[in-house]
Formats: sequence, C-alpha cells, structure tokens
Amino acid sequence: MADRLAGMTTLPEIPFAALIDDLAEHGWAIQMHALPADLTAALAAECRARQQNGALQPAGVGRAGAQRVNNAVRGDQIEWLEAAQSPACARYLKLLDELRLDLNRALYLGLEDYEGHFALYPPGAFYQKHLDRFRDDDKRSVSAVFYLNDDWLPEHGGALRLYLSEGRELDVYPQAGTLLLFMSADWPHAVLPANRERLSLTGWFRRRGNGPL
Ligand code: OGA
Ligand code: MN
Repeated sequence: MADRLAGMTTLPEIPFAALIDDLAEHGWAIQMHALPADLTAALAAECRARQQNGALQPAGVGRAGAQRVNNAVRGDQIEWLEAAQSPACARYLKLLDELRLDLNRALYLGLEDYEGHFALYPPGAFYQKHLDRFRDDDKRSVSAVFYLNDDWLPEHGGALRLYLSEGRELDVYPQAGTLLLFMSADWPHAVLPANRERLSLTGWFRRRGNGPL
C-alpha cells in the first residue's frame, strides 16, 4: 500500500473539477471558499499594505502604449502580481497555474500563462461595462477574479455584473474567498460602485494569440 501511494501522483491542493465543469457548461463559474482561508486573508492584508505603501497605481484604459487613466471608465488602483513579491503571491500564482493546467487537460484551451493584478476600488469607484478581450489582441481567454472582502453584504453594492445571453444579468458579490471564472471573449461585465472599499485579484489565462507579444 505504502509503495502504491508513493508511486501515485500527489493529489491537487484544491479540487477544481466542479468549477471547470460549470465553466464548460455555462461559460462562467463561481466557487465560494475556493482557496484556503489563511491564503485569502494574507492576500487581503497584502493588498491593503500595498495601498498604504503607495504601490497601487490608478489603472489605465486601453492597451499598453496607449493607456490613459479615465475615472469615468474605471476607478480602480492596481499593482501587477509577481511570485517574488511575497510567499502569498507565490502560493496564489502556483494554485492558478494548477488551475490553468487542469483547464487545459479538461477543455483543451491551450492556455499558456496567467497575468493578474491586485485591484482596489475606493468607495464609489466603478468599472463600466466592457469586454476583457482587446480588439487587437485575442490572447486573454479565461478571466479569473478572486475576491478579498470579509463580510460583504448586498447593501454594500460593488457587484460584478455579468451581462449574459437573452438579457439576463448575473451579479457576483466580492465576498472573500469567492473565485469567479468566465470566458473573456463572451461576457460583457461591469463593476458596480460600492459604499466601501473593494479588494480583488483580477487576472487572465492567456493562450497564444494573433496580437502583439
Ligand atoms: C477587470 C474587471 C472585475 C472585478 O479588471 O477587467 O472586470 O470584479 N474586474 O474586479
Ligand atoms: Mn473585466
């Protein structure tokens, strides 16, 4: 028995199967308590620390090279994620890489990498309805948003609103531990204003694309 166990590949830290099934069926998927609570708390603390250090910068609109800050379109402050920034960032990126490989195995998406950032929306900030895939760059394939806010209530506002087919709308509240996946090319979405600060990690699994590198 011990020999057989030793020969088995290790079990994944997080089972992503239900999330991936839902994504395949609907084009979007939500899981609460998706990652270990200690990691979620560490990431939230880190996002706040970065804000206090002045590391978060107003997010731009448009592709690199032609970016402008425009609070009438989006009002969040961001900092791009890198594994070397902290143990929590490294652990988050490792888990997302496992998710990327699971997505490829299950859905043959050919996802090559992930890029993502911390995002902080001050009270009243929003992000107007948009698509995550750029017109001139189709690499972003699956959007992944992980929320970091304890005790979020509907009256706080701040939902991510997905505009689904046939006029249906889906509001996802940014409660700590909730992971939202959706197909980047398919669903326009908006971040509605909240009456409290709203923290998240927003990112994209990318495939090889036609656009500039
Ligand atoms: C984005 C975005 C959603 C969210 O940054 O492109 O849509 O809920 N973010 O933070
Ligand atoms: Mn978006």
